[in-house]
Amino acid sequence: MSQHLAVKYAGAVPRYTSYPTAPHFSSDVTGDTYAAWLEDLPVGQILSLYVHIPFCQSLCWYCGCSTKMVARYGPIQAYVDSLLAEIRSVANRLPDKYKVSHIHWGGGSPNILTPDDIARLSGALRHAFDILDDAEFAVEFDPRYLGEPQVRAFMDAGLTRVSLGVQDFNAEVQKAINRHQSFEMTEHTVRMFREGGVKSVNVDLVYGLPQQSCQSVDNTIEQVLTLAPDRVALFGYAHLPSRITHQRLIDDDTLPGPVERFHQSHRAAQRIVAAGYQRIGLDHFAKPGDPLAECSTKRNFQGYTSDEASVLVGFGATAIGQLPQGYVQNAVPTGDYMRRVGKGELATVRGFELSREDNARGYVINRLMCDLEFSNQSVRDRFSEVSDVLIETARKVLEWDADGLVERTSDGFHVTDRGRPFVRSICAQFDAYLGKGQAQHSTGV
Ligand SMILES: C[S@@+](CC[C@H](N)C(=O)[O-])C[C@H]1O[C@@H](n2cnc3c(N)ncnc32)[C@H](O)[C@@H]1O
Ligand code: SF4
Repeated sequence: MSQHLAVKYAGAVPRYTSYPTAPHFSSDVTGDTYAAWLEDLPVGQILSLYVHIPFCQSLCWYCGCSTKMVARYGPIQAYVDSLLAEIRSVANRLPDKYKVSHIHWGGGSPNILTPDDIARLSGALRHAFDILDDAEFAVEFDPRYLGEPQVRAFMDAGLTRVSLGVQDFNAEVQKAINRHQSFEMTEHTVRMFREGGVKSVNVDLVYGLPQQSCQSVDNTIEQVLTLAPDRVALFGYAHLPSRITHQRLIDDDTLPGPVERFHQSHRAAQRIVAAGYQRIGLDHFAKPGDPLAECSTKRNFQGYTSDEASVLVGFGATAIGQLPQGYVQNAVPTGDYMRRVGKGELATVRGFELSREDNARGYVINRLMCDLEFSNQSVRDRFSEVSDVLIETARKVLEWDADGLVERTSDGFHVTDRGRPFVRSICAQFDAYLGKGQAQHSTGV
């Protein structure tokens, strides 16, 4: 039965890290729009900050992140100079020095930065914003290129949570994705950070990679669990070779099909849950006691977060920000981003101004992606004037479902255990933009 579902729901659907999703952003939203939105930000609003570092030391063939390889450090240092300029430029447009509860540096691999640049960047953020004493500072790391001086620099900068890329420890899989990373190297990285005082360790795993089998995924999980991570992210490999050209280096014949992918994710999830982790939304797991397991979670561009700030300010090439009025995205090519910032402009090239209906649909999709349910009353309370259309859609979802993916509750529906792997396809029923424009999405399993 599950196999039949895996085939049925293998169609392409978004990952819903935002609603509407980024392919629907438009160039009508410019730097001037962003400037006006920043000026209107309510004083006292608590912010979340994202900094994008689009550089890596070597190319993983599966990679879907916005990054590039560099042979010299010069371009990275120049990019950090641009980040500092952008931070000043955004801060100057804000009516106040805002409090910050959460900082995330992602990439690429932020650990490509030298200790000096780590200090310069974190110093600039502290100068421009009022970072709360208990703020979370999370960074994505590639354990293959990380030394003690960088670990110290990040600890000095206030690092609280690390996210380590692992994917799979099997040698055949690593060869097929051009990523060689031993368990010992990963274990050493975890030890360095824990001894340095980091509070929380997240490990990223991927299923659906070339040469992967249920057995290789099982073995990787077995090893990862010995590291006792606080969180595990288990992503389905998004293979889009027509858009991401380096993914063509992966032989399609070595990729598991939808049924095998389904089994890999199912077995992996069972194994992680059996080890005592709580399942969060689509693809995350957290130890009991971790904020992700204890608080209401939210889904944003970094995945699942316990951060409560509703405004996200993004810095760097490709970075996306979320303000009460809508989304803004910076120029993607680093050269274009740096040129705009160099001229004293904001680097925004596209975005999306949200209507009330967009906000209501985004709320329902976010709750489904996080809690696997929502109540009609919660939609009425927040979005009374547009709630009817969503409640009608919820009714149609119950009608549409012939596979036991959702179940009626006293006031809405919830996604069943059977439906959880297909929650993106359920969310898609609430997406008014799906199928419009040129968006390409990965398989729904
Ligand atoms: C920015 S990287 C993490 C940090 C560091 N660059 C590294 O790879 O170790 C973010 C994560 O995205 C996931 N990822 C990258 N490309 C992906 C793809 N095509 N499909 C699914 N997950 C992917 C990987 O799990 C990766 O660890
Ligand atoms: S997976 Fe990480 S290290 Fe590999 S290319 Fe992508 S961002 Fe860089």
